[in-house]
Amino acid sequence: MALFEARGIQKRFGARVVLENISLAIEAGTVHGIMGPNGAGKTTCFHVLTGHHPPDAGSILFDGNDITGLKPHVIARMGVSRSFQMMNLFDDAVVIENVMLALPAFRAVSGSPLRETFGDRHLVDLALTVLDQVGLAGRAWEKAKDLSYGDRRALEIAVALAAEPRILFLDEPTAGLGAQATQNLIRLIQKLRQHYTICVIEHDMRFLFELADTISVVHWGQVIVEGTPAGLKANKWVARSALGEVA
Ligand SMILES: Nc1ncnc2c1ncn2[C@@H]1O[C@H](COP(=O)(O)OP(=O)(O)O)[C@@H](O)[C@H]1O
Ligand SMILES: [Mg+2]
Repeated sequence: MALFEARGIQKRFGARVVLENISLAIEAGTVHGIMGPNGAGKTTCFHVLTGHHPPDAGSILFDGNDITGLKPHVIARMGVSRSFQMMNLFDDAVVIENVMLALPAFRAVSGSPLRETFGDRHLVDLALTVLDQVGLAGRAWEKAKDLSYGDRRALEIAVALAAEPRILFLDEPTAGLGAQATQNLIRLIQKLRQHYTICVIEHDMRFLFELADTISVVHWGQVIVEGTPAGLKANKWVARSALGEVA
C-alpha cells in the first residue's frame, strides 16, 4: 500500500477546471517527482493534497486513512509537511527561531514567550538537530534575512522538517537557485530521502531525473505519463515532447 495516495482529484475555481483528474500513489521511502509546464496545476495539486483547498471530487489517503477535506493543520499534525516558497519564514527572527516556532514541542509550551523558550536547552537542542539536517546549525543565531537565497530555501525545508513529518512536499525547491546551490540542494534531498518520503514539484527536469524514483508528468490538470526516469526516457510521448531533449 502506498503511503500517500490521490484518487481522481478534481478542482475547479469558478468555471475554470484546474485539476481534471489527478491520481498519484507515493510509496514510502521514495522520492516522487511531479513535473509539467507552468500553469499545469502542480501547485494547486499540492494545495489540495495538503488540505489548503478542498477537492471538488476524488479522495486523498495518507497511511490508509482518508484525509479528504481535513483542515491543513490536522493533516500537518498527522505527518504531512510542505514548503511554502519561503512565505512562512520570519525574516527578522534568527534562523533557529524560525525552526523553534515549528517544533511540536515548542507549540506544546503554550503562551511561553520565545525569549524565555531560548532558555529551554531541550528545545534549542531539538531545533539545532533539525538545522543540522539541512547544514545550517552553524548559522543558527543569524537573522533569517541575512542568509543567501539558497540557504533560505534550506531553512524553509528545516521549518517543514521541524514538524516531524513522515512525508515532505516540496514545491520547486530549485526555483531561483544557481548551479552550485542546486547541486547543494540535490545533495541535501539525497540525504533527507534516507529518513523521509518526499514528493517534489520541479521545473528542472535534470534535477528530477537525477533524484526521483518515480515521476508523474502533469499537463492540463491530469497525469499524462508516469514512470521511472528510465521508463520516461523510453516513452514515445516524452521523446517527442520538450522533455525528450533532457531525457
Ligand atoms: N485560487 C485560484 N483561483 C483561480 N485560479 C487559480 C487559483 N489558483 C490557481 N489558479 C489557476 O490554476 C492554474 C494552475 O495553476 P498552478 O497550480 O499554480 O500551476 P503550476 O504550479 O503547475 O504552474 C493557473 O491557470 C492558475 O491561474
Ligand atoms: Mg507552481
